[in-house]
This record gives sequence, C-alpha cells and structure tokens, in this order.
Amino acid sequence: MKRCRRYVCLAALTALVLIFLSACGKKQGTGDIRIGVAVYDEYDTFVSELTEAFLADVAEVNAVGTNAPVSVVRYNAAQSQITQNEQVEQMISKGCSVICVNLVDRTDPSMIIEMAREADVPVIFFNRELVEEDLMSWNRLYYVGADAFESGRIQGRTAAAYIKEHPETDRNGDGVIQYVVLEGEAGHQDAIVRSETSVDALIEEGIQIEKLESAIANWNRAQARNRMEQMIETYGEGVELVLANNDDMALGAADACDSREIPEEERPAIIGIDGTKVGLEGVRNGKLIGTVYNDKEGQARAMLQLALAAATGEGMEDLPLTDGKYIRLPYSEITLDNISRLGEEAP
Ligand code: GAL
Repeated sequence: MKRCRRYVCLAALTALVLIFLSACGKKQGTGDIRIGVAVYDEYDTFVSELTEAFLADVAEVNAVGTNAPVSVVRYNAAQSQITQNEQVEQMISKGCSVICVNLVDRTDPSMIIEMAREADVPVIFFNRELVEEDLMSWNRLYYVGADAFESGRIQGRTAAAYIKEHPETDRNGDGVIQYVVLEGEAGHQDAIVRSETSVDALIEEGIQIEKLESAIANWNRAQARNRMEQMIETYGEGVELVLANNDDMALGAADACDSREIPEEERPAIIGIDGTKVGLEGVRNGKLIGTVYNDKEGQARAMLQLALAAATGEGMEDLPLTDGKYIRLPYSEITLDNISRLGEEAP
C-alpha cells in the first residue's frame, strides 16, 4: 500500500517535472534550474535525512533525461544566522532561480527576505517555521513543513495506548505515571507545541500523570543523555515515562539507561518523534516504545515541486497550497506493531 503510494507520487512528480522542464526550456532558452538549499545545521539527523531525500528526488528528475537539468547548491549555516544570510547572498549571486531555506533563527528572516525580494528570487522556507507576518510580507515566499500539534497529539495517544496495554509501566503502582520531557531548542515551534500537546493527549486519554521535570536538549542525543543521567541521579527508578521531542533525544535517554546499567524491567518507557533511520531502529530493537513519523519524503517532494513551479512560473495551481503559502505533510504513528506489519514497506 505504502509502496504503491510512493510510486504514484514519484510518477506524479516525474509528470509534473516534465511539464515544468519543457515550459522552462521554452521560456528561458537553456532550461537550467539551479536550486539553492541552506540548512541550519547539517549534523541535525532529521534535517540531513530530509536533504538526502530532496537530492534523491532531484536525481530522479534528472534521470528522466530531458535537456533541462536541475542542479542544487548546498550550504550549511552551522547554527549562525549571520552565516546563513551571507550564504543566501552568494546563492543569489550564483544565479539560483529559487532558494530553500531552513532558517537558523526562525524569528529573523528579514535580511533573507529583503535580498530575495530585491533580486526577485522566490524562497521556500522549510522545517523551521517563520511567523505568518514575515511569510505574508512578499508573494514569492512559501513554507513547507508539518503540523506540530498533530505530532504531539499522536505521541501522547501512542504513549497512552502503550501504558494501557502495559500496566507495568506504572512501576511503583501508585496509579500515576511519573514522566519527564526532553525538549528541543527553546523557541522552536515544534519543541513548544509538542511538549504541551503530548501531555494534553495523555490526559485526554485518561492517564493520570505527574511531571517530574523537563529539560532542554536541543534535538541532540549527547545532550539528552547528559540530562537523562542527571534525572536518573535525582529520581532513580522514579521516572516511568520519557516524552522526547525527537528521536535523537529519545535515544539519548536510552543511552543514559545503558550507561547507568539500568536493567530492562526498571527502565522508563521512552517515545520519540521523527522516524529517522536510528529512530526506527530504536523502535525495532525495543529501546523506544514508538515514534511519530515526520514525513521527510513528502516534505522533500513538496519542496521540489514547489521549487520547480516557483522557478518556472508553471504549475503553481496544481500544488496543495494553503492560503497560497503553506504545504504541511501529515504525521503518522509508528510502533513495533505497525513496523513489523509493514515489514520492508515501513517508511
Ligand atoms: C524538527 C525535528 C527535529 C529537528 C528540528 C530541526 O521538526 O523533529 O528532529 O530536526 O526539526 O529544526
């Protein structure tokens, strides 16, 4: 089923691209489309997998063998907005016809918008969502991402279902699940929303919960391991559930349990979000009770379709844009149960 959907999407992508490329060839003579891609940090696991998926789609499009190749210029801002602003300036001067930006500081896109507007180069922001007012400030700005509320809701419901099926999660038997939250970057839309919504969903599902602590670990596995080691020091076996804003931090919590040699039956239930390669592996080998799939393939495809449409001016009306600006891909639940059912076809 999933595999079919993927082929349908690829076929749709290829068809769409053929139309764009022939239109582009007619319009611009050379037909060349150069796409600039700027990421906030290439060592971020999810963002790097999203970039890989994007490059694979570009390769697929080029393999169709038309005379209008798509090329990609990539930059890593290494967490500096000043560096990213300079990179965007370079991409514009290198003749990129469209730029995809994964902002370092999602509250500070003003320089990028100003430069792009001056050069009349469209910008697709992705994954790190700028505020609506900034996105609306020019008609050639777009956003591709997902709905953070949905990811938190699915995480909370998945954890609740697990707790109902595994009453032993409440190890001290007090009828209340003591939990901790590992949060992504302060101020990131996904961190803020996921932390709140997953807890709300647990409560809605009728689980009695008690928060022990929440700690910021910036999406990072090593930082999460440190935070979790500190929490193990403080609460011992008292932590029964770990809600992590992403898979890397969930795995960092599992690493802390390993390093403290906590026996299997005394470990907390740990759940992540993203469904990265290591995250899915964590679900398969039982380190995580589940994750929430952040559809990087869908987001990459939407970015490429939008980039080609924005660059050529053709096909914009075929895209599922909300308010003419946003494309958001849905999340889905991943547990050991549906990973094994889907087998090779799992995302
Ligand atoms: C989130 C993702 C995190 C991290 C972050 C970077 O959507 O879940 O793992 O990649 O984006 O902005």
